[in-house]
Amino acid sequence: MTHHLLQIGGITPDMRERLEAAFTIHQLDDFDPTAITHVITNGHDGVNPELMTSLSNLKVISGYGVGYDAIDVTEAVRRNILVAHTPNVLNQEVATTALLLLLACYRELLRDDAYVRSGDWQAKGNAPLTRSMDKQTVGILGLGRIGQAIADKLAPWDATVVYHSRGKKDVPYRYFDNLTEMARACDALICITPGGPSTHKIVNAEVLEALGPNGTLINVSRGSVVDEAALIAALTSGKLGWAGLDVFEAEPVVPQALRDLPNTVLLPHVGSATVETRAAMGALTVDNLLQHLKDGTVMTPVPECAEL
Ligand code: NAP
Ligand code: 8YV
Repeated sequence: MTHHLLQIGGITPDMRERLEAAFTIHQLDDFDPTAITHVITNGHDGVNPELMTSLSNLKVISGYGVGYDAIDVTEAVRRNILVAHTPNVLNQEVATTALLLLLACYRELLRDDAYVRSGDWQAKGNAPLTRSMDKQTVGILGLGRIGQAIADKLAPWDATVVYHSRGKKDVPYRYFDNLTEMARACDALICITPGGPSTHKIVNAEVLEALGPNGTLINVSRGSVVDEAALIAALTSGKLGWAGLDVFEAEPVVPQALRDLPNTVLLPHVGSATVETRAAMGALTVDNLLQHLKDGTVMTPVPECAEL
């Protein structure tokens, strides 16, 4: 029996080779919606609602990423469609990206790199001093799998870790049930919640002002979590010190104001984008699809689909 897979977004050659052995792969510009039983997509593209409606025989959506805010999971559950994702295999990489952005902000990596390249070091003398990352109070917004990996990686800098999420966890860090209060207590705030309605712009002007002129915001979660207009205003007025961003509201469009600011470090959503981690994510994304062909289950369903 031939199985028909719709491919949304890019996949690696290794993924393609394994998938081609089991599926006929269709691209978005040429497919029969009623034939498709499986979809492979990513955290950014997800599956748009009209497309999902048209796929009347869909059984599995396998996401190449852990975040699934671009997929209507409520509708998937209603239709008995299994949604799978790639938890855990990217924890360390995304945590490293958060630390990379944090260190780059504190130690003015981009400014000082430009100082050497422009010849200013020779022309003007030593660069201005930067700030130490040692002994900072760092707030983690969303202490889940990746948030915990970030907390672990902060240990060598002797950080005091605090966190905010909807529920208190069994961890040795101080819990804040109020995000603004946590921001007031922090030197740096790292966002690593899921996207979606419950986190939409929860980092707003009030939170950014509470973080303050000496504060640093890092966002490796989703662009929707931070009010980008408020962020630009706070960074421009000096109400917030620095921002290190891997994700944006309308990716890949990044507002010119953010690109012009000297107190930002910007990455093109590459939190998990190393050869090693993408290989692990790709393998799990394919494993989920192949396991479904064998026994009707997936290895790593999203929590909402765990009982399907
Ligand atoms: P996870 O284990 O599910 O952790 C998410 C955490 O966020 C949990 O601690 C959860 O705790 C908290 N949370 C959820 N909703 C919240 C809300 N409304 N307010 C406050 N806290 C909330 O997920 P993960 O594997 O660590 O991944 C987290 C997210 O990182 C993904 O969903 C994705 O959006 C993002 N991500 C980005 C990249 C990148 O390339 N930049 C890569 C991977 C993942 P409570 O349930 O107690 O609130
Ligand atoms: C990927 C991500 O860049 O896992 C996620 O949620 O945001 C990233 O790891 C994304 O899924 C695109 O593949």
